[in-house]
Order: sequence, then C-alpha cells, then structure tokens
Amino acid sequence: MSKLLYPRSLFFISFFFILISGFAQTYAKNGMVVSDNEVASQVGVAVLKKGGNAIDAAIATAFALAVTHPQAGNIGGGGFIVYMNASGATTTIDFREKAPLAATSDMFLDENGKLIMGSNHKGLKSVGVPGTVAGLYMAHEKYGVLPWKELVQPSVDLAKNGMILTFTLATHARRSQEGASAFLKEYFKNPNGKLVDFGEVWKQPALAKTLEQIRDKGKDGFYKGKVASEIHKFMKANGGIITRKDLKEYTAVERAPMKGTYKEFEIYSMPPPSSGGVALIEMMNIMELANLDSIQFNSTAYVHLVAETMRRAFADRAEHMGDPDFNPEMPIEKLTSKEFAQKRYSNIDLERASVSDSTKFGQLYDGANTTHLSVIDKNGSAVSLTYTLEYSYGSQLGSPKLGFIFNNEMGDFNPQPGYTDRDWLIGTDPNIIKPGKRMLSSMTPTIVAREGKPYLVIGSPGGRTIINTVFQTVLNVLEYEMPIHKAIEAMKIHHQWLPDRLIFETHLMSPDTQKALEEMGHTLYGRSNLGRLMGILNSTEQGVFIGASDSSSPDGAAVGY
Ligand code: DON
Repeated sequence: MSKLLYPRSLFFISFFFILISGFAQTYAKNGMVVSDNEVASQVGVAVLKKGGNAIDAAIATAFALAVTHPQAGNIGGGGFIVYMNASGATTTIDFREKAPLAATSDMFLDENGKLIMGSNHKGLKSVGVPGTVAGLYMAHEKYGVLPWKELVQPSVDLAKNGMILTFTLATHARRSQEGASAFLKEYFKNPNGKLVDFGEVWKQPALAKTLEQIRDKGKDGFYKGKVASEIHKFMKANGGIITRKDLKEYTAVERAPMKGTYKEFEIYSMPPPSSGGVALIEMMNIMELANLDSIQFNSTAYVHLVAETMRRAFADRAEHMGDPDFNPEMPIEKLTSKEFAQKRYSNIDLERASVSDSTKFGQLYDGANTTHLSVIDKNGSAVSLTYTLEYSYGSQLGSPKLGFIFNNEMGDFNPQPGYTDRDWLIGTDPNIIKPGKRMLSSMTPTIVAREGKPYLVIGSPGGRTIINTVFQTVLNVLEYEMPIHKAIEAMKIHHQWLPDRLIFETHLMSPDTQKALEEMGHTLYGRSNLGRLMGILNSTEQGVFIGASDSSSPDGAAVGY
C-alpha cells in the first residue's frame, strides 16, 4: 500500500492493519470496506475494529470520501443505501436529492419550449436539494451502534489536518486551473493560496468547519442553523433557488428494497426513485430464461443476448419510472415478475438486433462521476451504498465558506416534457420536474443473499451504465461462479435502448465479435472502460470475506481486518 496515501493523523489506524489492499483480491476474516479511496476504506475499517457495525462503517467511509474523493464523495449530493443485517432482514434508505420548491417543469427551456442544451447540468439551478447528510443520519439513528460523533470525526480530522494528495487528485487540481469554475480553481489551493501537488498535504479548513457542525448537531448541522443559512444566502446571491425552507423540509425515506431471485439466490437492490433495482431484476429474470449453458460466455451470441436484454429493460425504464412519491401507479411488480420476463425474452431474435423505437423512448447522456462503497462487518451484516454529485465535481459550485461542492442532479430529470428523440432526450411524464420531486436515478447498490445471508455486496458509478455493469457482474458471480475480481474485470457492454448503439470496451472485445455483431444489425461504439465496481463476496464455505476494487479506480482499495 502506498505511503503517500497516508495523512499523519491516520498513521495510527493503518499501523494495526493486518490485511492490505493492492492485490487482485483482499481477504479478511472480521470485516471489510471497499471504496474508491484507500484512506476512506481505512476509516471504515477502523470503525469496524472499534465495534461499529456495517452501517457505522459505511457512514464514516461516506463522510471520509467527501474529503478524500471530492469528485463524487459528498455532502452536497445524494444517494442510496441497501442494508441487510446478519439475519437477513433488509431495508433501503433513499437520500436522493429533490427538486427545490421553486423548480418548474419548464425551467430549462427556451421561449419556444426547447431545452437550452446543457442548462439542466449547469449553474446553481442544476442543484438538487442535497440528501446525503439526512440519509446517513437516518441510517445511523435506525441502525447504527457507535456514537454519531465518532463516525464524523475522522473526516473532520482529514479535512482539518490535511491529507496527502493522490496523483489522481493532483491531476484534477492541475486541470481545474484551465476552464473549471472559479470555485474549483480555488478548491485545490491550500490556505496559503498555493495549488497543492501530488504527495503534498491538502487541507480543507472550510469543509472541516461544516463537518464539525454536522458532527455536533447531526442532521440539523446541515439542514438548519449556520450551514443552512449560508447555503440560502449563497444561492440567493448567485441565482440559485434552494432556500432555507427546502433544506428544513428535506427528509430521507426508508423504503422496502426491490427483491428478485436468480436461481437459488435472492437479489436486493434499490427501488424507485432509482431505476436500478427494477431494471436489474428484470434483466436477471430474462437471463434466467435463456439457455446459458448453450451460449458461450462473451461469444457473439452472448453479447447479442445481453444487449437485447438491456435494450428492453431500458425501454421499460424510460417509459415507466420516476419518483414513487409522485408516481403511485408505476407497474413495478409487473416489470419485475417472471411472467413479464417471459414476454420480453420471447421477442428477442437471437440472430438479429431489434430496432429501438424512437417514437417512444430515448435516453440522456450521463455525467462522469459517482462512487460506490461496499461494507461487511464481523457478523456478516452488509451495506451497499452508492452516492453522487452527478458530474465529476457536480456543478463545480459551492460556497467558499462551506467548502463542499453542490451536485448538478437536476440534470437527471426529463428536461423537456413530452419530447423524446432518438439521441438524447426523454420526455416521459414520470420523471418530469416538479417541486419537491426526486429525479430518477440509475444507481444500483445491490446485495445478493444466499440462504438468507449476505453473499455478494456490489455497486458502481457510471450513470446509466451502472445498471448494466452491476447486472453483468452479478451474473458473472451467480451464473459463471467467477471470483469477485474476475467478475468485476470481465468485459462489459452497455445498451440503453436509445441512442440505439451497443457500447463495448475497446480493448476487451475481439474484432471478430465486433464484426459479427455489426452483421447482426448492431451499431457499435467503443469506450475505454465501463464500470468502476466495488465488491465483496462473503464466502461462508471458506469463512472469509473477499473484496475487490475495480482496477479502473486509481485510488480505490479493499481493506479488511
Ligand atoms: O443518479 C444517477 O443515475 C446519476 N446521477 C449517476 C451519475 C453517475 O453515475 C456518473 N458517474 N460516473
């Protein structure tokens, strides 16, 4: 493990670690945290060692990521927790951002009713009311065991005393000096005004103060009092619409998980306002019907089948899904039923690509950053947590007095009501902007259970690709019995109905397969990478937890003890 990742204040924690990351898989007997940042994973494991449970560790890791992985770790965004305790009881916590009370369905349109391209992801109007602090606080109130303060303190220390800047963050810091927002340009400077570089200590005193408020006052430290007042003032002075009232009224929601099965396994994932759980279960149901024994893994026939499965699930997603509090009639049970999968499976032509119908559905481009963490504690309780700012560094905006970055999650709503095209836009009703509504998400934090106990804890960033990379990883483990790191690294593809193209990892799919898929009618589009998965497998036979952080995560690590 790299010494450079260690701030001095964490030395005492790391000293005692028995198990370290950096190998393809990390093995641990007593507990494990896998996240996009090694220091944050260590913070979580220190909490486990102190007697905290998986919820406590997830909370501490999430706060730490807000300091050490600011491109996506956050207190200015939102996300989801899926939790299964050691005896198999499951729940979820929805802390997705909400549209401000002053938001309207035409807020990103010009005078002709057309979307002003990019406006829904830009500026303070793109900011949803943040949910992270409320969600983590609710998780703690209901299921945590250690005192709240002990979970927030490590992130206060990291922000106040500083952390060693990783190479990745140093690259972002350098790049921020060209073309980033004024806030981001200052963000990576130390109080002496100097841009921090790789290997140097980076301090975030304003963020430390905000975190202290949260440490001392809990949820109210963010949604009421000094921090809320400053958010309100900052928004008002700079053209934003989030008010003190929006913050005061924000609540996280506990929801029953989406539940499905694949052979002998039970799958628990996030229900709406994420589309992840519904689409994942729909796709697993379809795959269960396919005769996978006769189709070779990653062959042309396999990729075609998977792509057609994705196409169908994403069409259903576009048509039906949105915030359940505003869409009480969503046909969730139907979409996740085995009968419905039969219907979807039966119209897949195994020889020929279908054509996505542009008169019905479309998809938006998704942003570049989100982060997932997986936790398991000594009792086998597990947390799967994905949260996001939408784009990398969200809106790139924030109050210098508060030191954290606001999301640009309003971009996840369907911006132009009623208008759907072949390329970018979906205009379906369930995900139109309304005051106080949560925007539809693709985040898919998932726990698979075997014999009623957590077996696989998994999730990923990647916008709409999240659903598909989680789907393929789950399938790789459950169907193909791959070790967790192989399942994570194996070639992934992505199809999201519209735009009608099959995205593949350029260096992982053979040219022959590419050609054969094109001959079947697919339009191919190469990308260097899909997914950044963080997973843990609970191998009860071997009595060990096995964790892996995707090699595409430069600072990520599975840490256990
Ligand atoms: O909630 C969602 O689906 C998106 N805001 C997630 C964005 C994302 O994953 C970008 N990351 N790579």
